[in-house]
Amino acid sequence: MDKKSGHYIYSNKSYDVSREWFSLTLLMVFASCSADLFSKATRTKADERDLRNSVFDFIIVGGGTAGCIIANRLSAVHDWKVLVLEAGDEENIDYQIPGVPTKDYRPILWNYRTEKNGFSCLSRPGGSCEVRTGKVLGGSSVTNDMKYTRGHKIDYDGWHNSGAMESLEWKFSNLIDMFKASEDNGDYDTLINSFFHTRGGEMRVQRFKHVDRYMEVFEAAFSEMGLRTHDLNTNIAEAVVNHQFTISNNTRVSTNSAFLKPVKHRKNLTVLTGVTVTKIMINTQEKSVDGVMYEIEKGKERPAYAKRETILTGGAINNVKLLHLSGIGPKLDLKKHNITTIVDLPVGLNYQDQVTTGGLSFAIADAASVSENQIINDFKTWFQNRSGPLASKGIGQISAFIQLYENFNAPDIELSLEGNFIRSDKFMLTNISVNVAEETTMPLSYYNLVNLYPILLRPKSKGKVTLNKRNPKLGRPVIQANFLKESEDLDTLVDSIDIALQLLDTKEMKRAEIKLASIDLFPCDRLRNRDQWNCIARHYTKAMSNPIGTCRMGGNSTDSVVDFKLRVHGIDGLRIADASVMPSHVRGNIYAPTMMIAEKASRMILKDWKENIGSYNNR
Ligand SMILES: Cc1cc2nc3c(=O)[nH]c(=O)nc-3n(C[C@H](O)[C@H](O)[C@H](O)COP(=O)(O)OP(=O)(O)OC[C@H]3O[C@@H](n4cnc5c(N)ncnc54)[C@H](O)[C@@H]3O)c2cc1C
Ligand SMILES: *[C@@H]1O[C@H](CO)[C@@H](O)[C@H](O)[C@H]1NC(C)=O
Ligand SMILES: *[C@@H]1O[C@H](CO)[C@@H](O)[C@H](O)[C@H]1NC(C)=O
Ligand SMILES: *[C@@H]1O[C@H](CO)[C@@H](O)[C@H](O)[C@H]1NC(C)=O
Ligand SMILES: *[C@@H]1O[C@H](CO)[C@@H](O)[C@H](O)[C@H]1NC(C)=O
Ligand SMILES: *[C@@H]1O[C@H](CO)[C@@H](O)[C@H](O)[C@H]1NC(C)=O
Ligand SMILES: *[C@@H]1O[C@H](CO)[C@@H](O)[C@H](O)[C@H]1NC(C)=O
Repeated sequence: MDKKSGHYIYSNKSYDVSREWFSLTLLMVFASCSADLFSKATRTKADERDLRNSVFDFIIVGGGTAGCIIANRLSAVHDWKVLVLEAGDEENIDYQIPGVPTKDYRPILWNYRTEKNGFSCLSRPGGSCEVRTGKVLGGSSVTNDMKYTRGHKIDYDGWHNSGAMESLEWKFSNLIDMFKASEDNGDYDTLINSFFHTRGGEMRVQRFKHVDRYMEVFEAAFSEMGLRTHDLNTNIAEAVVNHQFTISNNTRVSTNSAFLKPVKHRKNLTVLTGVTVTKIMINTQEKSVDGVMYEIEKGKERPAYAKRETILTGGAINNVKLLHLSGIGPKLDLKKHNITTIVDLPVGLNYQDQVTTGGLSFAIADAASVSENQIINDFKTWFQNRSGPLASKGIGQISAFIQLYENFNAPDIELSLEGNFIRSDKFMLTNISVNVAEETTMPLSYYNLVNLYPILLRPKSKGKVTLNKRNPKLGRPVIQANFLKESEDLDTLVDSIDIALQLLDTKEMKRAEIKLASIDLFPCDRLRNRDQWNCIARHYTKAMSNPIGTCRMGGNSTDSVVDFKLRVHGIDGLRIADASVMPSHVRGNIYAPTMMIAEKASRMILKDWKENIGSYNNR
C-alpha cells in the first residue's frame, strides 16, 4: 500500500524517521485490524447534496460540537424540519482511539494559523501559531483531547451584566442544569455529588482505567506541592485532577456520535456533509434572514430556506468569515472588501484563545523502550477488546489547576502534561528542538519525555478575525491572535513556569529521577531566570485552540454581536450558538461549556417559539 494514501497519518513532509516509522506501523495495524479503516471518509453523495430549494424550519450551519446537539433537540419537535450543513465529512473510527495523538488529525482540521506578529510564536514555523479546529461531522469534539472541564462559577457569573436582566440566566446557578442535561457520568465517586453531576444523558463522561506509574509519580509530586486531588467541576480553586473524558468503552464520544447518529433516522432531520455554507441570505428591507447559500461542489451553489431561524454553529473563526461575507460585521472592515454592510456589528473582534508555551520538558530516565510488535498488539487489543495502552491518554490524564493570585478563589493556570517518545539511541535528550519534543511519534501511553504546558486560563490579550485580503471567499480567514500582547499575560506565564519548575524539587520527582530535559531552546539561553523564560514564551508560544469571543453576547450592538438569548442584534431569524458567543474564557477547557451553550440555546429556541414571543412572531 502506498503510505501516502494513509489518510491521516502522513500529511507533513517534514516528519523525521521515527514518525514515518510510526505512520507505517499504524497503517499496517489498521489494515490488519479493521476492514473499513482507510476507506475514504464518507460524505453525502453529490446528487443528494442538492436539496432543490427545500424549505426547513431551522437551518444549522456547521455540524460541530454545538451544532449536533442543537440538531438533536430541535428535530425532536414533531413538526419541525431541521437541516444541518457541515463542511467536513462523516467521522471515522480512526479518530476514536484515545491513545492516538491528536496531532495526527490534520486531514480533518481547517489548518488555520495565526498571523505573524513579531512578539509571539516567533520560533514556530512561519513565526505563527497553529490553530486546530475540526472540519468533520462533530467538529472539534472529534479532534479535541476530550477533557471534560466546566470552568468556575465566577467565570459565568462574570458574564452577567447589570444592565441586562436576561443575562442573569447565564449565572452559574442557572446553568448547572444545562451541564447536567446531557451528562452520563460513569464514575461513582464523582456522581456522589449530585448537585453537580448526574447520569442518564447522551454524553458519557468518565476517567480512563489505564494508569501508568508516572501518572502516580506526578500526582504525588503535585500533592507534595500542596495540591489535593479533587473533582475540578465543583468550583474548586486548586487541585490535581485525574480528568474525566468524553469516552464510552474507551472509545471517543463526540457530539456527533452521542447526539446526531442516534437520531439520524428522523424523517424531519436532514444532514448534509461535504457542503460549505458561503452566504447568509438576507432580506435587506425587513432585516431578516431567509436562509443560506451552500456549495454542493466547487463553484456550484444552492439555496436552502429557513422559515423560522438560521443558527450559526461554525465556531469562533468560521462564523466570522460567513457573517462578514454576508454583510454583518464592522463597517470599516467590510468596506475594504467592497461588501455592503447590512448590520454594523463587532463580529470578529474580541478573539480570545488560551495560550501556553513549549520548552518545559522533563526527561524520564528509565523509560522502557517499546517494540514495533508490541504496538501492533496494542492496536489489536484496542480493536478487539477496547483495552490496553491505547485505551489511555497516558500522562495527559492528569493536570494541575493552580491559583496564582489572591483576587478570586479560583484557578488562574493549568499545568497540563503530555507524554512524548523521542527515539534517541543514547537517551540523550539534548539538542532536540522544542518542535521535535512536541511531535508525538507513539501512542500516548509510551513516552520518555513529558512536556509540561502552563496554560493561561484567562488571558488578557485580545485579537481579531477578518477576511482574507486577497481571497475573502475562498481564502483562510486572517487570525490576529495577539498572544502575549498584554504584558500581564507574559508575566503570568512566566510566574507559572516558576511554579512548574518547583516540581523538580519534590522528593517524588527526585526519587523517580525525572529531570529537566536540556532541549535546544535557541535563541533563548539555557539560563534559569525570567529573561530566559520570557524569551522562551515569546518564541515557543502555543495556541490551545479554544477560540472564543468573536460573536460575544452582551446587552448592546456596540459591544456585542448577540443578545443574551443568542439572537444577532438588529436582524431577525439569526442566532449564534457555539463557543464564539462566550464573552470571556472560563477556567478550564471549553468543550463542556460549548455543550452547555448548545443545550441552553436549544431550550431558549423551544421556549421562544412555544410562546411565540418577540420579533419572531408570524414569520
Ligand atoms: C486540538 C484540540 C484539543 C482540544 N482539547 C480540548 C479538551 O480536551 N477539552 C476541552 O474542553 N476542549 C478542548 N478543545 C476545545 C473544544 O473542543 C472546542 O473549543 C469546542 O469543541 C468548539 O466547539 P464549536 O461548536 O464552537 O466549534 P466546532 O466544534 O469547531 O464546530 C464548528 C463546525 O462547523 C463547521 N463549519 C464551519 N464553517 C462552516 C461553513 N461555512 N459551512 C459548513 N460547515 C462549517 C466546521 O467544519 C465544524 O464542524 C480542544 C480543541 C482542539 C482543537
Ligand atoms: C420528527 O421527529 C420526531 C422525533 O423522532 C418525531 O416524533 C416526529 O414524528 C417527526 N416529524 C416528522 C414530520 O417526521
Ligand atoms: C472596490 O471597488 C473599487 C471601485 O469599484 C475598486 O477600485 C477596488 O479595487 C475594489 N476593491 C476590492 C478589494 O475589491
Ligand atoms: C481480548 O480479550 C480476550 C479475553 O480476555 C483475550 O483472550 C484476547 O487475547 C484479547 N485480544 C487481544 C488482541 O488482546
Ligand atoms: C466494548 O467494545 C468491544 C469491542 O468492540 C466489545 O466487544 C465490547 O462488548 C464493548 N463493551 C461494552 C461494555 O460495550
Ligand atoms: C549539541 O550541540 C552542540 C552545539 O551545536 C554540540 O557541541 C554538542 O556536541 C551537541 N550534543 C549532542 C549530544 O549531540
Ligand atoms: C454597551 O454595553 C457595554 C457593556 O455592558 C457598556 O459598557 C456600554 O456602555 C454599552 N453601550 C451603550 C451604547 O449602551
